[in-house]
Order: sequence, then structure tokens, then C-alpha cells
Amino acid sequence: MFDPMDLDDQDAYLRWRRLKLAHYPAGIERIRIEIDDLHHPTAAELDAIKTRVARFNMALIQARPEDVCPAGVLAVGRALGLQRTDANLFADTRAVSHIEAATATRDNAGGGARRTDFIPYTNRPLSWHTDGYYNAPEDQVEAWTLFCVRPAHRGGVNALLDPEIAYIRLRDDSPRHIEALTHPRALLIPAHTQAEETLRPARIGPVFSVRRGHLHMRYSARGKHVVWRDNAATALARKALDQLFSSADAFTFHHRLEPGEGIVSNNVLHNRSGFEDLPAGRSGRLLYRVRYRDRIETKIAGERPTSPGAPTMEHRTQPSGVQEETSGPRGQVQIHHPIERNG
Ligand SMILES: [Fe+2]
Repeated sequence: MFDPMDLDDQDAYLRWRRLKLAHYPAGIERIRIEIDDLHHPTAAELDAIKTRVARFNMALIQARPEDVCPAGVLAVGRALGLQRTDANLFADTRAVSHIEAATATRDNAGGGARRTDFIPYTNRPLSWHTDGYYNAPEDQVEAWTLFCVRPAHRGGVNALLDPEIAYIRLRDDSPRHIEALTHPRALLIPAHTQAEETLRPARIGPVFSVRRGHLHMRYSARGKHVVWRDNAATALARKALDQLFSSADAFTFHHRLEPGEGIVSNNVLHNRSGFEDLPAGRSGRLLYRVRYRDRIETKIAGERPTSPGAPTMEHRTQPSGVQEETSGPRGQVQIHHPIERNG
């Protein structure tokens, strides 16, 4: 059994690494699944999603655009076993966040904070991160879903990277990077205060940890409002991560969500390019996002466990209505060019 925190058992690591990398290179079509009814996904469709999640920690769902509504997004999450939502700032009462470029005039202020102060609610580029890196250790975000109602007029492309691939690339570079990033004080997010009121206390914790037997990553590439452990090993590990994000063999997926499409993921690393909406008065980019404190469990009928150390399923017969894995025109690994950091 492979333990990501055990840097001495090289044999177990190499076995797990070989099984993981057997699915790469892979393009976005490899993780795409068609869902006939987002509100009521079939067992075959759910198995197909979980197979992709087992291999890549994410899947791209293609649903009917009219099905993408908060109820539909929550329904497919429940069907995937995601029960415990993360009620974050600006999410609605069902924990669904409406991701759009907020303006001062339609900014629904909450708790003394304004959406326009937060990059996800602007049209600016969003740097690499996992969701909820500022959550308490016991409240980590283990999965999220993100569905598109309307794309931007231009831009708004997501890049997505499986943290298990990030772990492999870093460990191959130097196991000392993993050692530095598993330190319990590796990354501090200072308290969020406004008008002398503490909206969120400071959070400190590791970048890599193991939660319920699975590798978990907590990361933000932002340059402000983060405090990294001040030593040479951590600085080298951060530099290696920066290099990873522009590396061709990082196996990053790039995709601009179109209406009806959505990503479901075990909180993979992601970023977003800047975007432009049409002039005021026209409907702009709108995505629905839900964060969960559960992860998408991928143990399905006939399959062995998929936690680190256990092999993923090598082959499945595709149920009817589910797209075969192919490498189409978009089935190429693309090189990510770093975007402007969000400061
Ligand atoms: Fe995010």
C-alpha cells in the first residue's frame, strides 16, 4: 500500500507512479462523459464519471444546457455521493456560488465583504490554487463541481492539474520538496479582517496531506495574503511548483466550459484565464460552483479501491450513451503558459 507521506518506501511509490502515469498523456476528451439528465444520472453514467475520477481525479460532464441550474448541479453531486457542502462566502443558501463578474451595482454584499474585492468574482485571471486553502484543517474542501450556464464572450479558460501528478513531478525532482510541503506549518493564510472585524481567522497547515487514505493538496500561487514557511527547503519546493505549472509533462488539461458542460473533481489544482463579457446590459459569463467536504469515492462495482497505492481500473466497457475515450482534435496535452498572477 502506497503512503504518500512515506518517502522511504520507494518501491511502493514507483508501483503507484507507474499505474498513475499509464493513463497519460491524455487530452480533455478522455475525461468527457455525456449525461442525458443531470437531475437523474444513470448508474452507467455515474460509473463512467467515477472511472475518470479514479484515473484523473476529475471528469468533464456534458449535460443539456437547460439542465444546468442549482438543483441539477446539486443533484449530480448527491448522485456522486457528495453530501456535505461547504457554505462559503457569497454562496446561496444551498451552498451554490454564482461565479460571474460582479459589478458594484449588482454586488450582493455579505458579511461586510464585497464580491468585487474577490478575484473569482471579477473577470481577472485567477492563479493556480485548490479550493478552500483558507479553510480550517478539519473543514478542507475535498471536491468541487463547476458548471457553465454561459461562457464569456472571450476567454475564461480553465487549466486543471491532478494533485497526484503534481506530487509525482515534485517527488521525482526531489523528495525534499514533498518533505517541505508536508510540514504542518508549510503554508499560513493570514486572518481576513475588515474594519477591525475578523471575518476568518488565520489558517496554517501543510500543502500535501493524507485525508481518509487519499492525497490531499492545499495550495495557492497568490503572492499576497499568504505566508510560506521561511526556510530554504520550502523556497525550493515553491520554485519547483512554479516551474511545474509551465512544464509540458505536467499533463495539464485546458478547457473553456461551454453551456451544459461541467467539471466534477476531487479538488484538483486549477486556474482561470481572464475574460471579457459583452458590454453592459448583455448576459455575461455565469458558472455555478459547489464545494464539498466529501470526496468523490471511486470504488465501483467490480473495481478495486483507487486510493493511493491501489491500481485504477485498466479497462471498462463503455455503457451505451457514454462517449468512448478518444483523442480528438482537443485530445492533445497542451503546454500551459503562466498567466498574470492575481497578486
Ligand atoms: Fe477555485
